[in-house]
Amino acid sequence: MSANPRIADYAIHEQFIQRWSPRAFTGEAISEETLLGFLEAARWAPSAYNSQPWRFLYARRDTPNWERYLGLLNEFNRSWAQHASALVIVISKTTFTAPGASEETPALWHEFDTGSAWGHLALQASISGWHTHGMAGFDQELTRKELKIPEGYDLHAVVAIGKLGDKATLAEYLQAREVPSPRRPLNELAAEGDFTL
Ligand SMILES: Cc1cc2nc3c(=O)[nH]c(=O)nc-3n(C[C@H](O)[C@H](O)[C@H](O)COP(=O)(O)O)c2cc1C
Repeated sequence: MSANPRIADYAIHEQFIQRWSPRAFTGEAISEETLLGFLEAARWAPSAYNSQPWRFLYARRDTPNWERYLGLLNEFNRSWAQHASALVIVISKTTFTAPGASEETPALWHEFDTGSAWGHLALQASISGWHTHGMAGFDQELTRKELKIPEGYDLHAVVAIGKLGDKATLAEYLQAREVPSPRRPLNELAAEGDFTL
């Protein structure tokens, strides 16, 4: 790992290394227009057969859904995400109708495709001066029940969205983690030809 955790080894758009996931948020409101802009970016992600399996449920702070959504997070995530501006639940549809078919069959790539949509969301938010933080730490069963998510849809993550806050507002052990993280070198992740990783 390089000394500066965010130096790209190859030429890429700076936005890729500028995006990172903080936990200190300002707790300011976000307009629905702004939030829908991030989801719009997600909408344009690629997917197998253009099946677009991603689905999003959201709550903005200071709205009736906010406390309900916060209650779905585990205690650790709630401790900092309560200062975010919005929470987005990332869901995918597990079946699709293939071209020419009349019945739905398993969508083998729904997770892969939905991951790419969340990536779009995160990058668009970052480009727009906001930050996102994905969370696996939430109660899937409770979320499904509470938000009436039917069978045939998988739940993946909750994304906190907000403006970057002062890390002094976080518990001390979290302040130390409030920095952009490094990445493994590319040669540990990609190989030409046979699998040598
Ligand atoms: C699917 C997913 C689940 C995550 N779950 C949590 C979580 O529950 N709590 C948390 O604090 N961070 C969580 N993270 C944040 C990751 O730890 C973070 O994205 C990773 O360390 C890379 O850092 P970066 O996003 O700043 O580049 C999650 C990220 C993703 C993509």
